[in-house]
Amino acid sequence: MSGAQPPAKKVFIKTFGCQMNEYDSDKMLDVLRAAQGYEPTTDVEQADLVLFNTCSVREKAQEKVFSDLGRVKHLKARGVKIGVGGCVASQEGAQILERAPYVDVVFGPQTLHRLPALLDASAKRAQVDISFPEIEKFDHLPPARVQGPSAFVSIMEGCSKYCSYCVVPYTRGEEVSRPLADVIGEIEALAAQGVREVTLLGQNVNGWRGRVGSDDDAPLADFATLIERVAAVEGIARLRYTTSHPLEFSARLIDAYARVPQLVDHLHLPVQHGSDRILAAMKRGYTALEYKSKLRRLRALRPGISLSTDFIVGFPGETDEDHAKTMQLIDEIGFDASFSFVYSPRPGTPAAALADETPREVKLARLSQVQEAIEANQRRIGASRVGTLQRILVEGAARKPGAGGVPELMGRTECNRIVNFAGGDRLVGQLIDVRIVAAYPHSLRGEVPIAQAQHAA
Ligand code: SAH
Ligand code: SF4
Ligand code: F3S
Repeated sequence: MSGAQPPAKKVFIKTFGCQMNEYDSDKMLDVLRAAQGYEPTTDVEQADLVLFNTCSVREKAQEKVFSDLGRVKHLKARGVKIGVGGCVASQEGAQILERAPYVDVVFGPQTLHRLPALLDASAKRAQVDISFPEIEKFDHLPPARVQGPSAFVSIMEGCSKYCSYCVVPYTRGEEVSRPLADVIGEIEALAAQGVREVTLLGQNVNGWRGRVGSDDDAPLADFATLIERVAAVEGIARLRYTTSHPLEFSARLIDAYARVPQLVDHLHLPVQHGSDRILAAMKRGYTALEYKSKLRRLRALRPGISLSTDFIVGFPGETDEDHAKTMQLIDEIGFDASFSFVYSPRPGTPAAALADETPREVKLARLSQVQEAIEANQRRIGASRVGTLQRILVEGAARKPGAGGVPELMGRTECNRIVNFAGGDRLVGQLIDVRIVAAYPHSLRGEVPIAQAQHAA
């Protein structure tokens, strides 16, 4: 080889927000690599293109973008291009160019596949494209590159729930489901490349409805049917999904837990609050009792299932009594993890107009109470795993080496806990049983039983 190849152009992508955004950032890279030969870099100073994939779910997330943009502005002097995508881009559109005129492209979650064309066109003038061209995005993405035995597969875009506090329906558009055949086709291709675990991804995956055939009048399948079809794909040993909504957590979906062993013993089901008054003001469409009875039915089928959730603390009008109901729910369900945040008023959402008289210190104190209760559950559940055998999917090298600097491996239990352990590289991609020997706040330590280590050798 004669070394005459020009060096590949480099793209630096910074991702804010949720797993949908993580997924989209991977897709941006796939698109740019396929169309213009870009390679990723983690050093912004090396980049030819800097992209921010932004989040506007809370005020703080939104404001970070502009401070980050300010920090890369100087790179423009040597011809670096700057793009802003994601939910802030979707919400603010051309206003981003007013605040940061050095930005070259502004694109939304549904137009990221147009990035190469937008970049080309930006040579003349800055480009803004934040339209919602239905599900065209998926038809224009190159095949994903498989990284390890676990993969995310987007099954729907957007959200049509319009919870009173949330920007997502405005930034990502209404729910649009991918057809069944497309989802299954993608998962078959992943499985053929060694993927053993898939996480079905969307804002409300259990709102998924897909046509079974190609005719427009073909019957619509529901999410429980999709789960069964995915589980039937050869090689798929584990199935996860995120995020689902309690309102559409149907009896059929609960029953799937009895029939589909690939469905993991872990469910993330955001409840947001324990008080019916607040749930109604949030427009969530269920009561705390309805939420609990769904989980009771699920636990009857899967007694060991671990449950995690999201909470919003300090919604307008929340009283001490309302908050006590959230604490009671945490106690009753025994969630072992949660994403909990203080309510952040979002411009353009109905809740932003509500009077909110709770002082910030009170909200912060309530948030700490929620977080402490859940951390206590987490410690208790972690400690109860010590001494047990847990099946893990070995994903690759651990983040940190073990004692004496020896490299270690990491895997995840069904309930998504990280387990670090010593073992040979041949275990990567395998489902193995490890004995848990210690529990830490964010991970477990495991040991491969001797018989299994020999078997794998
Ligand atoms: N579709 C998912 C979650 C999407 S947003 C669901 O409905 O459960 C992720 C989380 O951000 C939400 O679960 C909620 O807890 C939080 N969130 C959304 N809007 C918020 C706001 N205005 N202030 C604080 N937290 C918010
Ligand atoms: Fe937002 Fe509600 Fe949709 Fe979740 S279900 S994304 S909280 S509007
Ligand atoms: Fe944020 Fe948009 Fe996700 S607002 S949470 S990046 S859908």
